Amino acid sequence: MTEPGTGPVQKGGAGERVFIRLGPPPEEPNQFVVEGAPQSYPPDVQARLEVEAKEIIGRYPSKRSALLPLLHLVQGEDSYLTPAGLQFCAEQLGLTGAEVSAVASFYTMYRRGPTGKYLVGVCTNTLCAVMGGDAIFDDLKEHLGVGNDETTEDGSVTLQHIECNAACDYAPVVMVNWEFFDNQTVESARELVDSLRTDQPKAPTRGAPLCTFRQTSRILAGLPDPRPDEGQGGAGDATLAGLRVAQENGMQAPEVDGQDKSEAGDD
Ligand code: FES
Repeated sequence: MTEPGTGPVQKGGAGERVFIRLGPPPEEPNQFVVEGAPQSYPPDVQARLEVEAKEIIGRYPSKRSALLPLLHLVQGEDSYLTPAGLQFCAEQLGLTGAEVSAVASFYTMYRRGPTGKYLVGVCTNTLCAVMGGDAIFDDLKEHLGVGNDETTEDGSVTLQHIECNAACDYAPVVMVNWEFFDNQTVESARELVDSLRTDQPKAPTRGAPLCTFRQTSRILAGLPDPRPDEGQGGAGDATLAGLRVAQENGMQAPEVDGQDKSEAGDD
C-alpha cells in the first residue's frame, strides 16, 4: 500500500497507519543548487578542460559513454558538481542538461555541495555499524564539530556516512577520498582525521597514498595517477580466508547447467 510521495504505508499495532519514508534523509542535499556556485567557467579553465575532455572522450566509441569520467573531471575542478560543470559535460557530449543531471544524481560519488580537501566516509551499513561504525561516526561528528555531509570550518575535512564499501571483511571501515582504512576504532578514526586536519595524512591500510579530493576526482576521470604503485593493493588475508578454506577442503563451485566454465566466468 502506498501514498504518493510518502512510500509504503503499513498498519500500526493498534490499527493506526504508520508512514515509512524511503530514500535519503531529508536533511541531505538533493539538488545541484548551491548559492554562489559557478554558472560557467572562465575562458582559460574552459580551454584547459576541453583539452582534457577531448582526450577522455576519444577513448570511447560513442562519446556519450564518457559522461561518468567527465563528471569526475569537472568535480575535480570545483570539488562538487556545479551548474558550470554540468553544462560543460552537456556541451562536450551533445547531451541535454536534464540527461546529464539525471545520470549525475543517480551516483553518490558525485557531490552536490563543496567538498573539503579530504572526504571522510564512515560506513554505517549493518556490519560496520554493529562492529563500531555507528560509534565512530557519532564520535567524529562531535570531534570535528560537523554533522553529516558537512565540512570543517578550515575546509580540510568533509564528513559523511556511507553505505557498504564492499570491504565488510575489514569492518568497521572508513574511507578517505575512496582509499580504505580498515578495522577502525573510535580512537584510530580520531587520529586519522587529526592527521588530515594537519595535512599530514596517515597512509591507507591498502592502496596508494592519499591525495586531495580534487586530485582523486581527476584520477577517477582517467587522467594520470602520479602516486607511487608499490603493490599496496590486492586481496588481504581476511578476503582470502574463505577461498583458503575452500581449497583446503577440496570445495568447488558447482557446474552451471548448459554452460561451460569459461562462459560462467569460472576460468
Ligand atoms: S558493511 Fe561496511 S563495508 Fe560492508
